[in-house]
Amino acid sequence: MNVSRRLENFSSAIFFELNELKQQLRAEGTDIIDLGIGSPDLAPPPHVIQTLSEAAADPSGYGYPTSEGSLFFREAVANWYRNRFGVHLDPQTECIALMGSQDGLSHLALALVDPGDYVLVPDPGYPIYEVSIHLANGVPYLMPLKEENQFLPDFSTIPAEVAQNAKFMILNYPNNPVTAVADREFYEKAILFARRHNIVIVSDIAYSELAFDGYKPMSILEIEGAKEVAVEFHSLSKSFNMAGCRIGFGIGNKEILKALAIVKSNIDYGIFTAIQKAGAAALLGDQTHTVTMSKTYQARRDVLLDGLAKIGWTIPKPQATMFVWAKIPVAMSSREFTRELLRHTGVAVVPGVGFGTHGEGFVRIALVQPAEKLQEVVSRIKDSGMLR
Ligand SMILES: Cc1ncc(COP(=O)(O)O)c(C=O)c1O
Repeated sequence: MNVSRRLENFSSAIFFELNELKQQLRAEGTDIIDLGIGSPDLAPPPHVIQTLSEAAADPSGYGYPTSEGSLFFREAVANWYRNRFGVHLDPQTECIALMGSQDGLSHLALALVDPGDYVLVPDPGYPIYEVSIHLANGVPYLMPLKEENQFLPDFSTIPAEVAQNAKFMILNYPNNPVTAVADREFYEKAILFARRHNIVIVSDIAYSELAFDGYKPMSILEIEGAKEVAVEFHSLSKSFNMAGCRIGFGIGNKEILKALAIVKSNIDYGIFTAIQKAGAAALLGDQTHTVTMSKTYQARRDVLLDGLAKIGWTIPKPQATMFVWAKIPVAMSSREFTRELLRHTGVAVVPGVGFGTHGEGFVRIALVQPAEKLQEVVSRIKDSGMLR
C-alpha cells in the first residue's frame, strides 16, 4: 500500500529520533526530566473543573453541539476580549469556537488557499503553520526570524512576486519557540504591509497570558481597522491550563471566520457542550489565576536561567511564554547538542532546527517542571561537564 506523498511533509525525523532515544534511556533506568513538550503541568482554576463536572453530569448536554460553538461560549469570548484588550466583537459573526487553536490553524489554509498560492510563515515557527499550507497545496514562504531583528520578520525582504501572490501571513507573538514579543509599532507595520498587498493576517496569541515582569502582550485587533485584514486565534490550553480539553477560539474578520466555519462544518460537529461551559467559566471567572500562573512560570524562568548563568550558560530572560530559547553554548548543532544533553544529563529539550532552519544554533526549553526540578537540571548540567 502506498501512502500519500503528502505525508512526507508531516513527520519530523528529528522528533522521532529524540523520542526513541528518550524511550531507550528510560528503559535503561535514566530518570528523564522532560523539558521538551509544551504541555502545561499546572491545573485549571478549581471553578473550571467544578463547572466541567457539573455540566458533564447533565444528560441534556450530550447531543451534537454546533460546529461554530454555542452562543454562550462565543459571548464569553467577546466579553473576555472586551475586558482584556478593549476590543469589541460581535459574538455571532466575529467569534468562532475551535477545538484548540490548532483546529483553526490547521484548517484555515483549506478555506483561503488555492493551489500555488503563497503563505508567509515564520521560520522558526510552530510546525502546523507550514504543514497546513502543504495540506492545502499552497506554497509556504518562510520569513526568517533573526536575532538581529528582535526575531520579528523583515517585510522589506519579501520579494514583490511573493507578496503579490500571498494569501495570508502568520504572526505569533509572544512567540513559540523564540519567545520574542511584538509591540504596537510592529503590528501597525504588518497591517500596512498586508493592506498594500491584499494579504490576510493570522495572529496566533496562544501565549498572551503568560507574561512576566509586568509586561502585558497585546492583540493585533487593538489596532484601528485591524478587523478588516486580520483574524486572531487564542487558546484556553495555556491561559487556563486546559490543553486536554481542546478548546480555543478565532476572532476578528467575519468573512474569514465564515470561510473557516464552512470548512469546519464539514469536518467536525463542534466541542462537547460541557467543555464549552467550562471554557466560558474560565473566560468569565476571576482572572487572578493568570497572574498567579505567570508568577509561577516567572519564578521557574529565574531559577533555571540564574542557575545556568552561574555555571557559564547565559541566556536572555524571556518576557513571555512558557519557554526559554537558548543559544547553544558549545560547538555542536542543535540536534547533536540535544542528543548529548539527553545522554549525559537525562534532560530533554527540543533542537531549534526542529522548528525550521533558522532555529539552528538554539534549543527550546519548556518551563513545565517545578522549580526544584529546574534546579536539578542546573546541577545535572554542571556535573556533566558539558559546558566545558
Ligand atoms: C504557538 C502555538 N499556537 C498554537 C498552539 C496550539 O494550541 P491548542 O491547539 O492547544 O490551542 C500551540 C501549542 O503548543 C502553540 O505553541
